[in-house]
This record gives sequence, C-alpha cells and structure tokens, in this order.
Amino acid sequence: MNIPEHVAIILDGNGRWAKSKGMPRTYGHTMGAKNVEEICRSAWEKGIKYLTVYAFSTENWSRPQEEVGAIMDLLRNYLKTCKKTAEKNHMRVRVIGDKTRLDPDIQAAIAELEEFSRDFDGLSFQIALNYGSRDEIRRAVDSVLREIKSGVLPEDTEITEEFISSHLDTAGIPDPDLLIRTSGEERLSNFLLWQCAYTEFYFTDVHWPAFSEEELMRAVEDYSSRQRRYGKTGEQVL
Ligand code: FPP
Repeated sequence: MNIPEHVAIILDGNGRWAKSKGMPRTYGHTMGAKNVEEICRSAWEKGIKYLTVYAFSTENWSRPQEEVGAIMDLLRNYLKTCKKTAEKNHMRVRVIGDKTRLDPDIQAAIAELEEFSRDFDGLSFQIALNYGSRDEIRRAVDSVLREIKSGVLPEDTEITEEFISSHLDTAGIPDPDLLIRTSGEERLSNFLLWQCAYTEFYFTDVHWPAFSEEELMRAVEDYSSRQRRYGKTGEQVL
C-alpha cells in the first residue's frame, strides 16, 4: 500500500457528535482532543511520518466566549498530555498559526513543548492554532518585507516558490499528500491553501470524535488506490 508521508486533517463535527449523544458541545471538544491522541498513535503505527491537524482557526474566535474559553482550557490540559506523549513516543510537536493572540501561559507551554520535542524522530505532529492560511501568507509577506527593509535580505532577493514555502509556518515540512475532512463538509476553510496545491482530498460523514483508526485506514486505502498525476512540488510523476 502507498502510505502518505504527510496527512492533514480538518477536525470537524465535535459539536454535532456531542448533540447526537444529548451532550453539551464542550463534551464533543473533550472527546475530540482525546481522539487526536489516538490518531497520532495510529498514524505513526501505520507509517505516516507527518500529521497536521486544524484545531482552532482564526475564525473560531467568533464562537460564543464561553465555548472559546472552554476550548482554551482544554488546550492547556492537552498541551500537558501532549508533552508526556511526545516523550513516550519521541513525537516532535510544532504549532502553526499566529501564536501571539493566545494567552501568555499557552504561548509559554507551546514554546516549552516545541523546544522539548525538537530533536525527536518519531511522528512529526503539527497543531494549527489560531491558524488561517491567508493570514499565514500575509504574515510571510510582512516578514520578508521587514527583512528587506532591515537589510537582513538583499533588495534584489529572488522570490521563488521555495522561498515563499520557507517563510510559511510549515517551513521544512513536506506538503500534505492527503487531506481528510470529517463530518460531511467539503471545503478547505482557509487551511493550508498554498501547501495543498497537489494534495488528494478525502471527505467523510463521520464526526471527528468518532473518527477511528479504521476510518483513518479507509482514507489511506482510498488514497493508495488513486493514481497521482502530480508530485508534491508539481513535477509530473505519472
Ligand atoms: C470542530 O468541531 C472543533 C473545533 C475546530 C474546535 C476545537 C477542536 C478541538 C477541541 C479538537 C482538538 C483539540 C486540541 C486541543 C488539539 P465543531 O465544533 O466545529 O463541530 P460542529 O461543526 O459539529 O459544530
């Protein structure tokens, strides 16, 4: 089987899953966070090397304040669990997105976790937090302009595709081979727009907390059965 090197997942349906069980939305988020742990383990066991999840978008701040607060508390706990998992499984964790809007204690926990796990050679796990692809591209352009203005980069710097990739939050991480979105929606919702230029998409009606190892394998099998016409960087592979 052709196992994708990098799988990206849009986690969707925590709220609907909880509602279907007569439970509050926050219960869905708790179980959704738990499932992230499970899928990290399954992904590595199946030979996936990079996993990126869309946990909190730049648009998610507009949810009711109470729900955002509950997600942030969940995140605080999750980052602690994640450190233990990283240590146990030698998982490297990185957060993509604009971290500056997160509470200082969350930013500090992220910095600690990234530093702690930076040399681990197990699964490379990226969590998108306060992430939006357009915002990522905007920040990249802004940082290049600043570097040119301050003389760090020469004025005649050639802007190649590789140069742009190397200024995104995902610098150094290969583009996703497979993108999965759970819970029935079939759109990218501002996730990895640049990086998904040649990515295969897989959509399922299953809500995120119910997305099991079997569901992951179903997606991988579907991916494996496809004939990809283009490689990650755009070169024709067939
Ligand atoms: C998706 O379901 C939920 C989110 C995008 C918000 C937060 C995500 C989690 C708690 C899971 C992972 C968490 C961590 C900490 C890594 P939804 O609320 O959009 O569901 P709905 O579409 O059914 O309302």
